Amino acid sequence: MKFFPLLTAALVSSAAISATPLQARQASSSSSAAATSTQDSFSSSSSSSGSGSSATSSASASASSATSTSSSGSSTNSSIINSYNSTLSYNSTATANSSDVYGVSAAGFANVKSASNPLNIVLTNDDSWGSANIRALYYALRRAGHRVLMVAPSHNQSGKGGTVVLPASLNITSAGRGGFAPVGAPFAGLNVTDPGLRYFNGTPAACAGWALDHDAQYFFNATSRNDSTAGVDLVVSGPNEGTNLGPFLYTLSGTIGASYFAVERNVPAIAFSASTDVRQYTSLNLSDVDDESVKIATYSANFVSTVADNAKASNSSARVLPLGIGLTVNYPEIAPTGNCTDLEWVHTRLTGKAIIDRFVVNSTTGLPTYANYVSEGVNACLAGNCSLPGETDVVENGNCQASASIYSVDYDAPTNATQDLVAALTSGIQSLNSNGTASNSSANSTSA
Ligand SMILES: *[C@@H]1O[C@H](CO)[C@@H](O)[C@H](O)[C@H]1NC(C)=O
Ligand SMILES: *[C@@H]1O[C@H](CO)[C@@H](O)[C@H](O)[C@H]1NC(C)=O
Ligand SMILES: *[C@@H]1O[C@H](CO)[C@@H](O)[C@H](O)[C@H]1NC(C)=O
Ligand SMILES: *[C@@H]1O[C@H](CO)[C@@H](O)[C@H](O)[C@H]1NC(C)=O
Ligand SMILES: *[C@@H]1O[C@H](CO)[C@@H](O)[C@H](O)[C@H]1NC(C)=O
Ligand SMILES: *[C@@H]1O[C@H](CO)[C@@H](O)[C@H](O)[C@H]1NC(C)=O
Ligand SMILES: *[C@@H]1O[C@H](CO)[C@@H](O)[C@H](O)[C@H]1NC(C)=O
Ligand SMILES: *[C@@H]1O[C@H](CO)[C@@H](O)[C@H](O)[C@H]1NC(C)=O
Ligand SMILES: *[C@@H]1O[C@H](CO)[C@@H](O)[C@H](O)[C@H]1NC(C)=O
Ligand SMILES: *[C@@H]1O[C@H](CO)[C@@H](O)[C@H](O)[C@H]1NC(C)=O
Ligand SMILES: *[C@@H]1O[C@H](CO)[C@@H](O)[C@H](O)[C@H]1NC(C)=O
Ligand SMILES: *[C@@H]1O[C@H](CO)[C@@H](O)[C@H](O)[C@H]1NC(C)=O
Repeated sequence: MKFFPLLTAALVSSAAISATPLQARQASSSSSAAATSTQDSFSSSSSSSGSGSSATSSASASASSATSTSSSGSSTNSSIINSYNSTLSYNSTATANSSDVYGVSAAGFANVKSASNPLNIVLTNDDSWGSANIRALYYALRRAGHRVLMVAPSHNQSGKGGTVVLPASLNITSAGRGGFAPVGAPFAGLNVTDPGLRYFNGTPAACAGWALDHDAQYFFNATSRNDSTAGVDLVVSGPNEGTNLGPFLYTLSGTIGASYFAVERNVPAIAFSASTDVRQYTSLNLSDVDDESVKIATYSANFVSTVADNAKASNSSARVLPLGIGLTVNYPEIAPTGNCTDLEWVHTRLTGKAIIDRFVVNSTTGLPTYANYVSEGVNACLAGNCSLPGETDVVENGNCQASASIYSVDYDAPTNATQDLVAALTSGIQSLNSNGTASNSSANSTSA
């Protein structure tokens, strides 16, 4: 959490020195989360339903009793139980648009297209399971017909990149964002009224890994599949509260970090980042197609279904994305945050007008803070198609365009960009390894 003071500094200084969108969002995120945290106390009596079989039977009961619940969320904290090894799932035989499935059937998702190839999807983010954006996407993906297991951080985990931090205590010792995972709750929990809604007290990459290793095989009944990915076809991360544009934010963003962790675990992944503010799920208006989070969820679900259906057009068992490959999507400011109403999709690349930090000292505080720097290094085009527009420019050009960039987790440099370096390194290694020519090569070695 030592990241937050820096982020706050960036927000404070943003009047004079523009902070990156992510930094500004995360700063407001941390302060807002603190401001809205409640002093919920976890009811331990509700947490003690233990064994898999009793949990399974309560699954059906809860799933059906949840059907007429309104969105008030007032019964939230007593509904959390331990999700470790839980065999609970939601009622996957109910049709996606069945009017008795809470959220999924909401009128706000009228523009979600049905997927021809329903997927097993793990959904995560970095802002926490209480974020409006991730809850809306959970319902939108289910509305499209996908089976969705959400395992998102209990606490705000913005800016963690691909770092893996696991729970350090069996019970949560400080309330998660919004108080939705209260003090005393287990490190991994689920909402019994909808067992697809889960949290884990770890970083985004850790949530993706925990979902794959301890939830997915039960949730998707994957034990019969002999499937190394636990039956998961796709990991979706986000939509983040704030954009993540360019290579620097790619490494820094927990939203994207969860996605590249999944890609490295053999599972295709798509990260979504939006130009939205911090918002708790309890403020969602699921019956309004123009609710900002509902709208972004609709765009995102339709993007997922379209990409997957195209990938599977001639072979329904084809992977959604090739091994080692992921997608990162960014949205401009959609109404009501912005005035974009007619979104256009653009195939982009990560480099191109992207930013890195440079560090400056605030003359009032005497402390370092940072400013944006559009450097040549972060924008060097070395791989992929250099004629594509950069995602930073596309999302920030005011033309209501969303970017979709393809990334690879093969960070080796392309050979055609490094021919001279390869030659120098090869001869350098030869001389370093050669005892016989040690005296000859010392000049070359020391000057290298
Ligand atoms: C420097 O810090 C002060 C106090 O936090 C803040 O009010 C001011 O805007 C900052 N100045 C710049 C140039 O960032
Ligand atoms: C649990 O799910 C129900 C709907 O199924 C919802 O009303 C409630 O707010 C959720 N609580 C949490 C903490 O997710
Ligand atoms: C549950 O949380 C809400 C706020 O989210 C709070 O008002 C309520 O008192 C809590 N109930 C219990 C039983 O802890
Ligand atoms: C969880 O499942 C694993 C694998 O079946 C098992 O080894 C472990 O004991 C289980 N843990 C709990 C707490 O049920
Ligand atoms: C699941 O949904 C189907 C279709 O709506 C329904 O017939 C069935 O009873 C439900 N099962 C449970 C356990 O709620
Ligand atoms: C629900 O979906 C099915 C097929 O997916 C479709 O035939 C039916 O018209 C839909 N019903 C409603 C009320 O949208
Ligand atoms: C800690 O979590 C466990 C597992 O959910 C639960 O059984 C226990 O009651 C919790 N303890 C406290 C002190 O809240
Ligand atoms: C899970 O898979 C087993 C073995 O194929 C099967 O017997 C069982 O019915 C499946 N359960 C569900 C809920 O699909
Ligand atoms: C709204 O549109 C106008 C005109 O296209 C533009 O100048 C303005 O910056 C936009 N506002 C936002 C918040 O995007
Ligand atoms: C390397 O090859 C790629 C693909 O053919 C090309 O786009 C790129 O410009 C080349 N880079 C260099 C430095 O030659
Ligand atoms: C290099 O020198 C070391 C130390 O004298 C020796 O142990 C090693 O076998 C030599 N290696 C080669 C390739 O001659
Ligand atoms: C040292 O570098 C020179 C110039 O690149 C090269 O001709 C020579 O072979 C190198 N010597 C060794 C021992 O690698």
